[in-house]
Amino acid sequence: MYNLLKGKRGIITGALDQNSIAWKVAEKAHEEGATFVLTNAPIAMRMGEIKALAEKTGSQIIPADATSVEDIEKLYVEAQEILGGKIDFLLHSIGMSVNIRKNIPYAESNYDYFMKGIDVSAMSLHKMLSVAKKLDAINEGGSVVALTYMAAQRTYPFYTDMADIKAMLESIARSFGYHYGKEKKVRINTVSQSPTKTTAGTGIKGFGDFYDFADAIAPLGNADAESCADYCITLFSDLTRMVTMQNLFHDGGYSSTGVSSEVMERLAGE
Ligand code: NAI
Repeated sequence: MYNLLKGKRGIITGALDQNSIAWKVAEKAHEEGATFVLTNAPIAMRMGEIKALAEKTGSQIIPADATSVEDIEKLYVEAQEILGGKIDFLLHSIGMSVNIRKNIPYAESNYDYFMKGIDVSAMSLHKMLSVAKKLDAINEGGSVVALTYMAAQRTYPFYTDMADIKAMLESIARSFGYHYGKEKKVRINTVSQSPTKTTAGTGIKGFGDFYDFADAIAPLGNADAESCADYCITLFSDLTRMVTMQNLFHDGGYSSTGVSSEVMERLAGE
């Protein structure tokens, strides 16, 4: 442990179960000396596992639907009361596509579901930033990280509408990063993570095969949730204080590799 987040206060969204990337971030943030509140959609609370994480990390849980500005306002007000001051870091780890859940092909996307996906998975970041700015809830130099996927840059057919939604999420991080950076030196970055075996990840059709493919391409192999959490911690720390408005790949080198010898050999063997 390096005490990288000693004295820092945070809000961590998206911890659903032990596989969640946010779950690992919460464990690491606790180890690194941060205090934080956990939040998730009220429906996810009813599933109950988050309580174990709260106990383990000595944190409180504030239910909030990330599509509701009212819920987000309440979240910041209560979080600051509980933690005793302004927020230093925020993790946005929220993703959901009804089109993916219902196995609807991209070209036939249902637009109500598409809008829902945008609201939950991209606009929610804008709302969380806008409310924070209005309430002046984030300290100068504070750091915001949102999780994304490379389908925002390159086509992965199975990722359907979430590809467009992640592109929007990354754009919001960039655009808001400018305004919040100018005004309060708040940093906003996205971490583009390898395929990871979580509830959101494995809900995607063909995920298992693709997971193996990505693992065979990346020179370091797929990055797991724990290493993703480590990376997020560095971004919350002061060591990265001049990094903002970036989309940062955390993928074992996958995004810079055209093809690997392993994949070539597999194809030659067929
Ligand atoms: P997860 O299923 O554990 O987490 C998704 C979270 O979003 C859940 O905790 C869920 O309750 C929450 N959520 C859904 N609707 C919400 C709402 N209306 N309000 C508040 N919270 C809501 O899965 P995972 O993989 O940890 O996902 C976290 C983030 O990482 C997502 O943005 C996902 O797209 C991203 N990501 C995941 C990858 C993967 O392969 N698992 C790869 C790259 C990025």
